[in-house]
Amino acid sequence: MARCWGVIPAAGSGSRMGLSEPKQHRVLGGKTLLGHSLDALLRLPGMLGVVIALAADDPRASDYRGLDERVHVVSGGAQRADSVLAALRFLQKIAYDDDWVLVHDAARPCLTPADGERLVAEVLAHGGGGLLAEPLVDTLKRVDADGLVQATVDRRGLWRAQTPQMFPLVPLQQALSAALAAGVDVTDEASAMEWGGNPVRVVPGSPRNFKVTVPGDLELAAFYLGLAGGAGE
Ligand code: CTP
Ligand code: MG
Repeated sequence: MARCWGVIPAAGSGSRMGLSEPKQHRVLGGKTLLGHSLDALLRLPGMLGVVIALAADDPRASDYRGLDERVHVVSGGAQRADSVLAALRFLQKIAYDDDWVLVHDAARPCLTPADGERLVAEVLAHGGGGLLAEPLVDTLKRVDADGLVQATVDRRGLWRAQTPQMFPLVPLQQALSAALAAGVDVTDEASAMEWGGNPVRVVPGSPRNFKVTVPGDLELAAFYLGLAGGAGE
């Protein structure tokens, strides 16, 4: 079985959600969103451990460390990529250079075992690296600042990137560091790997693995998590 590690960036502030605390700490069904995302990674085959990047002043580090001996916590950074790099630096002390890393947003608590296992199987079968993603289904409009449609954009070949995103440890760390140093806007791991000229494959995922971003998303997450009482916990 391939050696895999998880990384969960969970140091964001959740500004679009507008809660009194960052969205990853919101409880749904007796568990935080981060806790659901963590469980989804821990149950994948070959998962040796998961490194969570929390905000430096987050008091919850010991709570998560205490959940499972495979859980590690580091301090994240100002941007998502900084948080991921902090976790990768930690992993370099305990993992082999060619171990696989699956980076998964804390804010995607509804990842199913089937989607996660499909990603791992496809990436191992083809080599390189890859990410869960969904082909766009809507008609796309380019719109100006006044709300007027400028064009209808051809959606063929366009996919929505999700996580997990799976790459070998050292190439990922090098690509992220180099892309950040070059001033590239790194919004996910794949963009840094693409920028470095590495092959990146999309693996079809499902809509339930959406990123909880705005307030209405909590209700949808509760639904997908099978919580009858909705998001009102
Ligand atoms: N993240 C992180 N470190 C940061 C910024 C984001 O670890 N400096 C994490 C978030 O906690 C989240 C994931 O990256 O799990 C995806 O980011 P996003 O959904 O944009 O979360 P936030 O940045 O917290 O939300 P917002 O952009 O609305 O402020
Ligand atoms: Mg953000």
